[in-house]
Amino acid sequence: MQTLLVTGGCGFIGSNFVRRQLASDPDVRIVNVDKLTYAGNLENLADVAEDPRYQFERGDICDREFLQRVLAKIRPNAVINFAAESHVDRSILDSGPFIQTNVVGTQTLLDACREAGVSRFVQVSTDEVYGSLGFEDPPFTEATPLVPSSPYAASKAAADLLVGAYCRTFDFPAIVTRCGNNYGPYQFPEKIIPLFLANALADQALPVYGHGENVRDWIHVRDHCAGIDAALRRGRVGEVYNFGGRNELKNIDLTRTLLAALGKPDSLIRYVTDRPGHDLRYAIDCTKAERELGWTPEVSFEEGLSETIAWYRSHGEWVARVQSGEYRRYYETQYQDRLEDR
Ligand code: NAD
Ligand code: TYD
Repeated sequence: MQTLLVTGGCGFIGSNFVRRQLASDPDVRIVNVDKLTYAGNLENLADVAEDPRYQFERGDICDREFLQRVLAKIRPNAVINFAAESHVDRSILDSGPFIQTNVVGTQTLLDACREAGVSRFVQVSTDEVYGSLGFEDPPFTEATPLVPSSPYAASKAAADLLVGAYCRTFDFPAIVTRCGNNYGPYQFPEKIIPLFLANALADQALPVYGHGENVRDWIHVRDHCAGIDAALRRGRVGEVYNFGGRNELKNIDLTRTLLAALGKPDSLIRYVTDRPGHDLRYAIDCTKAERELGWTPEVSFEEGLSETIAWYRSHGEWVARVQSGEYRRYYETQYQDRLEDR
């Protein structure tokens, strides 16, 4: 039986990854370490909470002693680090938590894993570390220099560089993955797709930054999770792998597509003050992952988006509980009782 330690498993991508691994591998055991920040929602994994192969440990990746205890107890075959502060706008308002979790947390986790003799480590990173492309530039490759724009991107770049340094200095067996913009179920409604879906469904305005000309390269979270699994199994230690959906879209075109799919009018669009330092364009060259890992993005944007829209339509209660803050009571009410019963 393989034991995986997943950090940040109560967030958007981590929860999709945990569910996927449990569904696809009967012999896997997963321990999910999550601090439960505002972005961590235990309800995201409520459907697997009773699975004997799954275990939740509330804790902070900046807490070395906590990590030492967990690692000594479970002796994982691999560690996958999803835990992060992940929203660019929040990093502009206050970069402190980003440096703390994304940089100090990654360093603390690396040290604890090194000390515990962890034999495989995947650092889940982002294409935002490469900075911004012009409209005519070729897509990011793994050799593109790191020129992050936002405090979020800078903190992720620092973490990537630390991981690389640990590989080189200590022969630490780590891999870095860098993915484009994800969409899919359980994404916190502060990122553009779930925010705009929630607003449009409530007939509220959609705040498009600047002129909506910025381009993002969208990938379904299922394809990203499959890529992380491929990197975990087949990635070469010390290497970086890019994942993308080969699906570039201007924000304004995305916004109009969402409104049309919901049968809502374009008059809900509000052009608002641009994000400071707003990256113009992201585009990802993922041929290295295709060649070396045998991975390729499989979910078409049309299919993935209509599934995602259907999910948000049928999970109005999930969105409402997130927006009201009610989801944060789940740990105190149901989950903690269950932990005490064990
Ligand atoms: P998210 O914000 O939805 O979830 C982050 C999770 O980490 C939450 O459950 C939170 O409680 C937890 N966490 C935060 N600080 C912690 C700490 N100190 N200790 C333990 N847990 C902590 O983020 P996401 O969108 O799921 O992103 C996951 C990872 O993937 C991040 O590292 C992010 O940089 C990367 N990434 C995200 C995208 C995207 O489009 N969302 C794209 C590429 C890469
Ligand atoms: P976001 O979902 O925050 O992801 P990222 O900044 O990591 O790419 O934003 C995606 C794009 O949408 C980005 O160009 C900023 C833009 N955006 C808006 O125009 N309005 C919004 O309310 C948000 C949240 C984002």
